[in-house]
Amino acid sequence: MGILEDRVVIVTGAGRGLGRGEALECARQGAAVVLNEFDPATGAAVVAEIESSGGRAVLVEGDVSQVEVADRLVAVAVDSFGQLDALVNNAGILRDRTLVKMSPQEWDAVIAVHLRGHYAATHAACGYWREQNRPGRMVHTASTSGILGNFGQANYGAAKAGIAALSTIVAQEMAKYGVTSNAIAPAARTAMTESAYGDIPATESGTFDFWAPENVAPFVAWLCSDSAGDISGKVFGVQGDTVELYQPYTSVAVIENDGQRWEPEQFTDRIGSLFEESGIVAQAEFMMSKLRYTMSQR
Ligand SMILES: NC(=O)c1ccc[n+]([C@@H]2O[C@H](COP(=O)([O-])OP(=O)(O)OC[C@H]3O[C@@H](n4cnc5c(N)ncnc54)[C@H](O)[C@@H]3O)[C@@H](O)[C@H]2O)c1
Repeated sequence: MGILEDRVVIVTGAGRGLGRGEALECARQGAAVVLNEFDPATGAAVVAEIESSGGRAVLVEGDVSQVEVADRLVAVAVDSFGQLDALVNNAGILRDRTLVKMSPQEWDAVIAVHLRGHYAATHAACGYWREQNRPGRMVHTASTSGILGNFGQANYGAAKAGIAALSTIVAQEMAKYGVTSNAIAPAARTAMTESAYGDIPATESGTFDFWAPENVAPFVAWLCSDSAGDISGKVFGVQGDTVELYQPYTSVAVIENDGQRWEPEQFTDRIGSLFEESGIVAQAEFMMSKLRYTMSQR
């Protein structure tokens, strides 16, 4: 018996990549799955794949940043399968460009799909859980680009940092209903990372393929299960056979001024102690170089 037997799970952007893996794994664990996908052909193919293995799945086509599509996801879950137990917010796009060259359209498109898409589906699901007074699970998809910052991804990183914050706040607001909210910062070989990193070769068959997109799905399915009920408001790094726990932004040093308002010029002499005390460098850093697992290196 799977860990999601009799559960109903929504997965957005489920036609390929991580979302496809998450939909298939949730179905394998016994859940009925409501798939959302912008590209109807790939979405329908995943529904067919689940059904051919004896699972239950239905497709809601469309752009998840549209409130009507997000609302329909919850309505279809209830109409088709009687309830909603978990939401996996996954749909996403890239429009990478350094900020100076980034057009308003590139900014808006990425913010819309990721941040508005997460808001729209989360809003619909949380409204349902509050109204029904039912427990629920949410897994949102952040990124190391948002948590750490990544060159050329101001739009994407801003959206992904926003998603981590959204997840933390919704975790606080929905705790009284028994609804959990966590975010993952995944890494895997998909069409999206191919466009960012180029071809990441698969490991020879027979050995564990670290960057295979299906590797992210087991932890996501587990976060959707009853067993994960006491975990909320956290950000996990997930890739290959690893799960990391990220520390939220934390104050690590302080300066004070003897109970007096600061004069701006005082900071010239005093600011250094913040960096000395914390060991953090004052200049802009390439935080991605601090990743434990990087696609370009493995
Ligand atoms: N692959 C990685 O290493 C990685 C790393 C960090 C974060 N992520 C995040 O994981 C998620 C999945 O990425 P992926 O690598 O599987 O990418 P992908 O491009 O392979 O899959 C994304 C899917 O989302 C769908 N989609 C796009 N816009 C949509 C919309 N408006 N409404 C509904 N569906 C939409 C696409 O059609 C596609 O099927 C994204 O949020 C991405 O930002 C991925």
